[in-house]
Amino acid sequence: MFLVWFGSTAHLIISDPALIKEILVLKSEFFEKDEPPLLVKRIEGNGLLNLKGQKWAQHRKVIQPIFHTENLKVMIPMMAKSMEEALMKWSEKMSNIGKVEIEVSDWFQNLVEDVITRATFGSSYEAGRAIFQLQAEQIVHAAEAYHKVYIPGYRFLPTKKNIISWRLEKEIRKSLLNLIGDRRTRRRENASCRAALSEECPRDLLELMIKAADESPQSKESLAVTENDIVEECKTFFFAGKQTTSNLLTWTAVLLAMHPQWQEQAREEVLRVCGARDTPTKDDLAKLKMLGMILNESLRLYPPAVAIIRQAKTNVQLSGLHIPRGTELIIPILAVHHDPVLWHHDAQEFNPARFATGAAQAAKHPMAFMPFGLGSRRCIGQNLAVQQAKLAIAMILQRFSFELAPDYAHAPSVVMLLHPQHGAPLIYQLCVHGSCGECKMDDDLVALLPRIVDTQRIINEGRFGCTHVKEEVQASEKIDT
Ligand code: HEM
Repeated sequence: MFLVWFGSTAHLIISDPALIKEILVLKSEFFEKDEPPLLVKRIEGNGLLNLKGQKWAQHRKVIQPIFHTENLKVMIPMMAKSMEEALMKWSEKMSNIGKVEIEVSDWFQNLVEDVITRATFGSSYEAGRAIFQLQAEQIVHAAEAYHKVYIPGYRFLPTKKNIISWRLEKEIRKSLLNLIGDRRTRRRENASCRAALSEECPRDLLELMIKAADESPQSKESLAVTENDIVEECKTFFFAGKQTTSNLLTWTAVLLAMHPQWQEQAREEVLRVCGARDTPTKDDLAKLKMLGMILNESLRLYPPAVAIIRQAKTNVQLSGLHIPRGTELIIPILAVHHDPVLWHHDAQEFNPARFATGAAQAAKHPMAFMPFGLGSRRCIGQNLAVQQAKLAIAMILQRFSFELAPDYAHAPSVVMLLHPQHGAPLIYQLCVHGSCGECKMDDDLVALLPRIVDTQRIINEGRFGCTHVKEEVQASEKIDT
């Protein structure tokens, strides 16, 4: 623990898990979220992430059903479809030895954006996607501004960048309000999609917030859910859900590329549980223990959110320490996750086996692992993020093996979140191992080929041209016709 001063505000950095538990769990009523700078709040949205008190509790209750197990289960086929379509595109870029270089940090962002858009807007997907693209643009501007020296009042000047940012802000708001209006009309006209949870209509943020707004108590104005609340929650979902999950996927892919023996073990598990051709189901995902350990180890070494900040609401005692009102407390997740006192001598190394008996047993303190925060304000999207990450990595492992590209440079860097400064180029190769003497593919993978690549084109171009593959493809074409 140590103290630093930023201007006139004291910041206490606390990395002892016992004290962290007091702040986030046992005495959480004495601490509140800090007020982010206006620039950050504008892009994060004034939603769940930043709300306080009763309004926060009310919104959390309204939004929670999106993340219930049953709703997440319904989202799996949609997630798998996005993933299959995206992987299919890799084949178009493959060289004649079946290899392709992919910059995965960009690639995973697109994939996650698709899922977050569906979780937020459901059936209004296309319009929602266009809005989120504007928000992505705005985040890029904000990240640039965040890195510049702060000049008071600068954000009010009509500079070129400020004008673009104001235009984007206006456009996002206007489009979201239009979308809310459209959905309200559709709700009135068609009640069928509201009544039941089905594969076509998992619960989405827009639907739940509009329902809450329509049912808001008219008398208690401060608790009424307004159109503005809906707009802000949509923005928050995008900000909180997209880059965090894509960073988890990126770091996991990088770590597996760096550690081929773990990659092979994870692939063996995926092929054993899900087979080489089937889309993993919810039950399959629950059985992927090794992949779960790998994701945890990735979140330990490279937690997308590197710190949590709280402010003391009143004077408060913390394990005998007197914390004056207004003190800012910083919980450095990244440092706690790398502390050799908690994680043993191999704290800096990638060793998923430490999670073999569960996250609570992995370190010397059961709360030393906190990538999603702790207590009542812990991440609401945790299960969605883990489900998407498991599904995406499992589907890649079914089809491809991968390694670092020669120009990969390891440079974790924090720009709000922890991301690879120079991107993450990886080389993917169609998974070939096994029994065919000619092409070295085993039967399962050969049968899988028509589903993952345009095999006929590959054969025509002279790649994988052995009889074994040709026969399999011809047979599958006969079945299709
Ligand atoms: C790997 C992925 C993710 C990581 C590492 C992560 C991390 C976190 C952390 C550390 C917090 C707690 C912040 C605090 O206590 O101050 C948090 C809160 C939150 N996260 Fe996530 N998150 C992830 C994915 C998601 C997703 C997919 C969504 C939504 C779609 C989401 C939405 C939120 C929201 C709304 C909160 C605020 C919860 C509240 O205060 O009640 N997150 N997240």
